[in-house]
Amino acid sequence: MNNFEYYAPTCFVFGKETEDLAGKYVKKFGGTKVLIHYGGGSVVRSGLLDRVKKSLGAEGIAYTELGGVKPNPRSGLVYEGIDLCKKENVDFILAVGGGSVIDSSKAIAAGVLYDGDFWDFYKGKAIEKALPIGTVLTIAAAGSEGSPDSVITKEEGMFKRGASGDALRPRFSILNPALTQTLPAYQTAAGITDIMAHLYERYLTNTDEVEVTDRMIEALLLTMVHEGPRVIADPNNYDARANIMWAGTMAHNNSCGVGRSQDWLSHDIEHELSAMYDCAHGAGLAVTMPAVFTYEMSHNVMRFAQVATRVWGCQMDFAHPEVTAKAGIEAFRRFLISIGMPKNFEELGAKKEDIPALVQSLCRGNGRNGTLYGFVTLNEDDCTKIYEMMV
Ligand code: NZQ
Ligand code: ZN
Repeated sequence: MNNFEYYAPTCFVFGKETEDLAGKYVKKFGGTKVLIHYGGGSVVRSGLLDRVKKSLGAEGIAYTELGGVKPNPRSGLVYEGIDLCKKENVDFILAVGGGSVIDSSKAIAAGVLYDGDFWDFYKGKAIEKALPIGTVLTIAAAGSEGSPDSVITKEEGMFKRGASGDALRPRFSILNPALTQTLPAYQTAAGITDIMAHLYERYLTNTDEVEVTDRMIEALLLTMVHEGPRVIADPNNYDARANIMWAGTMAHNNSCGVGRSQDWLSHDIEHELSAMYDCAHGAGLAVTMPAVFTYEMSHNVMRFAQVATRVWGCQMDFAHPEVTAKAGIEAFRRFLISIGMPKNFEELGAKKEDIPALVQSLCRGNGRNGTLYGFVTLNEDDCTKIYEMMV
């Protein structure tokens, strides 16, 4: 296991009707003038936005609002949010929605306290400070409610890139699993897929002797294998949603990723798909992961064989561990299809003829130098082959 420092100070408030406590927690963390940031309207239709406003009002906290965050959030609204916060002297941002809303809030939070272009952070500049943010989560997926990360798409060039910094960690996150009951089945499944991806990205490590985090990841993957089909069959199952929601947070607050190298190539390769086709990130990952894993398998067959036996119930073939490794990838692929995820380019809405453009943006766009580093190292030729495997 490698040395590490782990700092994850978000206060999680979990359970039924906890959104009514939003005002109390904004006050606790020092907010006096709030920007409520939300998406395309689901929180308006469900009445959640009104309940959150009421709870702020009950604490005497002033607020302004900015809706309209799109899935795969764009830089245009971030610039608008930064201007609004400066004009209104906002000192706290409350994200009410999913990963896209939270990521847009984080970008605004960092941008308000920075004199330059906020996009500098998405080109690698370190984030020193940001306005405090809180979240009221409406979908279990991205894990942004407990992560130091934000992913934004820049309209010029459609580059989808991430930025990271402890200042972006939410001060508090309100997690009421019942709020996720209004999700369309496809979004629920995309969320499940993203959560499992965050676990696999950490599982695929080049660090030895990481039994504790291996076992934590396996436990969370097994939870998803158990709860995923339950929630797809019965969307109002509060307990299944509760387990998935907490698994989603644990999967990405990096408690399972400390002391080990991580992969993240599936995410890099997927982000090009959701940038180009505006597909759900989780759906893109469902198509991406089996191809990436198959390509990576020979790098460490035993790692793939281990997850195959411990999570997917495959029999270990000691004479031919690659058979076991492959069976695990196939079991994962079948699981994703069974919950309603796409299995190839066509079902995702992607096109084979776009592969050169995808590879160019992935490997050379926004200042990249042609090489991607993760569990394995990939060049443009490797990435082309991986996209071709998804067709
Ligand atoms: O915009 P509204 O109307 O709210 O609709 C949303 C959106 O269309 C809808 N939705 C959310 N909660 C709902 C609901 N509909 C009905 N009832 C509810 N309770 O779901 C759609 C998707 O929402 P979105 O926020 O985009 O989903 P998700 O949480 O999956 O976020 C995806 C974004 O997060 C990034 C992804 O790349 C993508 O841009 N990621 C962020 C990470 C991070 N910050 O740590 C890590 C991830 O790996 C990921 O890359
Ligand atoms: Zn993800």
